[in-house]
Amino acid sequence: MPVDAESLHARTADADWIRQLPKAEVHLHLEGCVPLASVGLDDAARAGVAFDPDTGAPRFHDLAEFLGFLDRSCALVTDGAHVEHIAYEIARRAAANGVGHADVIFNPIHWPAWQADLDRFVERLDCGFEAGEADHGVTTALCLSLTRTQRPADSAALVDWLLAARPGRVVALSVDGNEAAAGRTGQRFAPLFARARRAGLHTCAHAGESSGPEGVRDAVELLHVERVDHGIRALEDPALVAELAANAVPLDICPTSNVRLGVVASLAAHPVEQLRAAGVRVSLNTDDPLLFGTSLADEYRRCAQTFGWDRSVLGAIARVSIESSFAAQERKRELLSSLADYLGPAA
Ligand code: ADE
Ligand code: ZN
Repeated sequence: MPVDAESLHARTADADWIRQLPKAEVHLHLEGCVPLASVGLDDAARAGVAFDPDTGAPRFHDLAEFLGFLDRSCALVTDGAHVEHIAYEIARRAAANGVGHADVIFNPIHWPAWQADLDRFVERLDCGFEAGEADHGVTTALCLSLTRTQRPADSAALVDWLLAARPGRVVALSVDGNEAAAGRTGQRFAPLFARARRAGLHTCAHAGESSGPEGVRDAVELLHVERVDHGIRALEDPALVAELAANAVPLDICPTSNVRLGVVASLAAHPVEQLRAAGVRVSLNTDDPLLFGTSLADEYRRCAQTFGWDRSVLGAIARVSIESSFAAQERKRELLSSLADYLGPAA
């Protein structure tokens, strides 16, 4: 091979290299990890969801329709063994995608069978994650999520529960749901996030998906989150982009989700490349992989192809994913060291 071709080859990331690249996933919903076959595809079809004939994945017009679907699919999970299995499979799929640690968001609003017994729900999740770690070496943490459109008393009750029960597996408070329907809610959630922070929990928030840049600003300035989930509409405000870059606020970005829910028109039009080029710390994530028919290795591969990212760009994104994760410090050090070994001296 001529020297130029050889060095190009060494920089190009093929599918195996991407799969094995050590990384973390920090934006992954438990609700999007319910295998549809296990809850009955027929039920979903009867509920008016269309399925892609090629991939079998459901199709959604927008976030509101998608969130309604989560209510229906998760309501069918009533058995503890099923909950354990869902958690175990998260760890198994993570390992198959080179993921050493996953932060998993769960939102009780979607799980009616478990709302009155969150202790037991988290216990069953814990069993599944523990078995997954033993078999596949993947560590997993949970983020309890509030809902943007929820009654304030219900959000407060969830934080009360979390701070009283303090299950070891749950390390963070988050908020998700539909900001377009809720309006600006930063002031409303700020006291709850302050309580969580004072109690030593990590924090993150969905913003800049169904809200514009003002939602991202509120997440940073009112909720004081460590990470913004999505955050892509920050791009509409250049001053905000500059602040995110200067303050090293990581955005956990989910490209396929944004395309599938109509937040962006196509992967080629996705803001992730402009945000990255502007110096914003970005990680790649799947959001709801089983419902969007994606995997984390697919996200890295599709973005590499679309934006011409080489190994050094993908390595930098993997580093952000680990550094911005809520893994224990020692685990982060292990994963960062595996990543450095994998990338070699050129990194
Ligand atoms: N819950 C699950 N996926 C979500 C998303 N992409 N946005 C808001 N809430 C969600
Ligand atoms: Zn999400």
